[in-house]
Amino acid sequence: MASVPSLASTVQQRLAEGLSAALPEAGSADPLLRRSDRADFQANGILALAKQLKGNPRELATKVVEAIPANDVLQDIEVSGPGFLNITVSDAAIVNTLAARAADDRLGVPFNASAGTTVIDYAQPNVAKEMHVGHLRSAVIGAAMVEILEFTGETVVRRHHIGDWGTQFGMLIQYLIEHPHELDHKERGTDVEVSGEEAMSNLNRLYKASRALFDSDEEFKTRARARVVDLQAGDEETLALWQRFVDESKIYFYSVFEKLDMDIRDPDIVGESGYNDMLQETCSLLEESGVAVRSEGALCVFFDDVKGPDGNPVPLIVQKSDGGFGYAATDLSAIRDRVRNLKASTLLYVVDARQSLHFKMVFETARRAGWLNDEVKAHQLAFGTVLGKDGKPFKTREGETVRLVDLLDEAIERATAVVSEKKEKAGLTDEEVVENGRYVGIGAVKYADLSTSAVRDYKFDLDQMVSLNGDTSVYLQYAYARIQSIKRNVTDAEPAAHPELELAPAERALGLHLDQFGATLAEVAEEYAPHKLAAYLYQLASHLTAFYDQCPVMKAETRELKENRLFLVDLTARTLHQGMALLGIRTPERL
Ligand code: ARG
Repeated sequence: MASVPSLASTVQQRLAEGLSAALPEAGSADPLLRRSDRADFQANGILALAKQLKGNPRELATKVVEAIPANDVLQDIEVSGPGFLNITVSDAAIVNTLAARAADDRLGVPFNASAGTTVIDYAQPNVAKEMHVGHLRSAVIGAAMVEILEFTGETVVRRHHIGDWGTQFGMLIQYLIEHPHELDHKERGTDVEVSGEEAMSNLNRLYKASRALFDSDEEFKTRARARVVDLQAGDEETLALWQRFVDESKIYFYSVFEKLDMDIRDPDIVGESGYNDMLQETCSLLEESGVAVRSEGALCVFFDDVKGPDGNPVPLIVQKSDGGFGYAATDLSAIRDRVRNLKASTLLYVVDARQSLHFKMVFETARRAGWLNDEVKAHQLAFGTVLGKDGKPFKTREGETVRLVDLLDEAIERATAVVSEKKEKAGLTDEEVVENGRYVGIGAVKYADLSTSAVRDYKFDLDQMVSLNGDTSVYLQYAYARIQSIKRNVTDAEPAAHPELELAPAERALGLHLDQFGATLAEVAEEYAPHKLAAYLYQLASHLTAFYDQCPVMKAETRELKENRLFLVDLTARTLHQGMALLGIRTPERL
């Protein structure tokens, strides 16, 4: 494992050396290097520096250029305009850097030197409830962040904060006591596993029936409320029934996560109930320290800048006046657990933007209590709403929330149709069509979610998602498969770097972009911005398309050229594969 400095950072380094040699008084001024259309890079920093030193920028720029020692990376530096530097790196430097990347399993991507421990709260559906598109977003974005952060060397602890506690369980459990066979499986008494689909339909039926009874039958309501008290008191029979709901729901959750091709592990599911033993203590700590105060019987935390429409402050309620604990007490306890027991340096919450106020108040409370501080930070990676094609929140024609499973099945179906069309050409077996249909369909859903900035709403448009052209996962998957097909078809040459060759413009562009992979990942991890990785990969595939137009691989004029081009496409394939894997998307070998 060897991390490879990017050409940008090498150029930056050389410029900084030139700057401080020519102008010792400049200190460690930033040359402000950018990728450029005119040359490979442009440095704009000398303008500001000249202003600061009251010098002539063009003269200064010339002095800097002269002070840069001879080296084999910079091929040409030209002073242009009012005092920019246009910088061209040598072809050999590009190929040599890429060869160093290719020699490394991690493609030369460095580990983050200041890595810590991040607890990621994501994929948090609710027990006895159907999963919807909002849960999809948390799962998809969260899983990508897990992979990306781990790749940069961060220690990641996953937490699935499922909604498995609350007063609605009184109603559900009471109903089950009175209708004891409602959660039984069809194949009762055998080992046959119940399907996720069946588990959810059982839960749904039971939820609806108990809700109806709760709303219409006062006596049932009273029994249900008494059941909540039993549950909270830890009554064994009641807890055992509660556990049945949790287990049944997990069967369903796992079936959806599996469909999503996502690896969710049981020990990481620590739902709201996991913090029950801490709630009382959390409240006491907050009350004793004065962070929370009693107001009309409830334990509340107030904020200067959080007010309701009437102008009155809206508090965070940590304990209700009847003694009950809610969402906030649980989240505050979870923070204590994650900081103290999991030794987190960062807490990341992948949760709907509509919960931003909740997290703002929870984080601020935790800071006042000293649980969060300069060493331990919390951040909500907030995501927007999934909209239908019409731009309105996603609903069925009947106005109901769309079931996640139905969406995923439809995506797989559409993708399978797309894959089937190329079955002959790609030489796919029937099994491969089925498998690829899954990878393309699920990839399409994930990519659509990941390719726009998380906080923005996005339209769930399956036609667009499985389109072969444009910014879609299928386009990237085809780019990968095409390279693999070329590699299979070229039997008389192996990928090999040839730094002695002159590069065509499309080869340079592809090469320089490949070199940006590590820097892109660092930025993506730092900003929690997986959409920047998606954008990088899409550009990579676009560079590849331009490269194919101008630089034949199989029909390259010389053996060296062929080997070098194979080397370039091979590194492109590996970069695509790695990048897509970080987004949770598969890259089939044939498509
Ligand atoms: N279960 C919640 C929901 O479906 C999301 C939980 C988010 N995480 C948290 N720590 N509050 O909306």
